[in-house]
Amino acid sequence: MIKKRFMVLTEEFLKNSPNMCEYMTPSLNTRQDLMITEIPMLGKEAATKAIDEWGLPRSKITHLIFCTTSGIDMPSADIRLIKLLGLSPSVNRLMMYQQGCSGGGMVLRLAKDIAENNKGSRVLVVCSETMASIFCGPSENHVDLLVGQALFGDGAAAIIVGSDPDSETERPLFEIVSANQTFIPNTEMAIRLQMREEGLILHLDKETPDIISENIQNVLTKAVSPHGLSDWNSLFWVVHPGGRRILDNLELKLNLNKHKLRASRHVLSEYGNMTSACALFVIDEMRRKSLEDGKSTTGEGLDWGVLIGRFLDSKSIGKMMFDEIEVTIRTE
Ligand SMILES: CC(C)(COP(=O)(O)OP(=O)(O)OC[C@H]1O[C@@H](n2cnc3c(N)ncnc32)[C@H](O)[C@@H]1OP(=O)(O)O)[C@@H](O)C(=O)NCCC(=O)NCCS
Repeated sequence: MIKKRFMVLTEEFLKNSPNMCEYMTPSLNTRQDLMITEIPMLGKEAATKAIDEWGLPRSKITHLIFCTTSGIDMPSADIRLIKLLGLSPSVNRLMMYQQGCSGGGMVLRLAKDIAENNKGSRVLVVCSETMASIFCGPSENHVDLLVGQALFGDGAAAIIVGSDPDSETERPLFEIVSANQTFIPNTEMAIRLQMREEGLILHLDKETPDIISENIQNVLTKAVSPHGLSDWNSLFWVVHPGGRRILDNLELKLNLNKHKLRASRHVLSEYGNMTSACALFVIDEMRRKSLEDGKSTTGEGLDWGVLIGRFLDSKSIGKMMFDEIEVTIRTE
């Protein structure tokens, strides 16, 4: 159940932007103008909190990965964020547009690669999203768009990734042990997001939760078996909460104990599906609750866990329409 969501859209903005309130009305310019400003601003809020908690000077940030599915522009949102945060113009940037929900796992996989290949680097990862890209009036002929609008919410999250923590000044929360990306062939119609003059047009196949649960066991087994892991209930779970039925199906299919998806369900309930930002919210919720409950690790007292971020296709990758990413993480 989604109890709450946050949105940059206001009643006043919508009153002044009737083209965004109708179904399939040209409105891309209105959406773009809003998103180009708001996405870096949201990202700044999240990044500032992450940097403050990390506690080291901003000058120590060497790389920035910025991910959003909300708006496309050049100069890109990462450059705007660098200015807003006062980071060095020499920070190495990677801007990821239009990755949808799969972006949340993808940013961590890329940050891990960058951190491990650049000694001393500190990668600031920021995911910032608003559903202003898809917000519009309903149509009886496009129920899946309505389902999507009921699910999606706005949010931004940030994390700092490095590979050689300084034990005197830094306090690692999780270790990313391995990261894999797999797509399920021939599922290109499951989730589609198409940029049109009417905005970002969403298509969600109602079979999506079943497609995921039918394939999840196989994909996960390949990811975790090299680490000698096979008991799903011995792991902690950071799952991108694409929708309640997706979590229900996963729980059922893998025979997970009821509390295993607690953090994912909590984030879905408090914020909705914030696409790429969701996985980082779930990580944060997991370590917050673990601390609150006095657990011995940030992963509910367990050493090993999996992160699953996913579910979005991208036209640019042709047949790779169903995107599944797992990051195996170990607690500190
Ligand atoms: C949306 C959702 C939470 C609703 O769950 P629920 O309350 O248990 O209800 P159901 O799944 O039974 O769906 C309720 C109705 O909506 C319809 N519906 C659900 N998803 C739909 C979709 N994508 N397109 C069209 N209709 C859909 C169902 O067919 C059903 O209609 P019916 O009552 O006429 O049979 C659940 O379907 C879900 O989690 N879906 C996955 C969403 C998704 O794809 N997320 C990925 C985004 S990254």
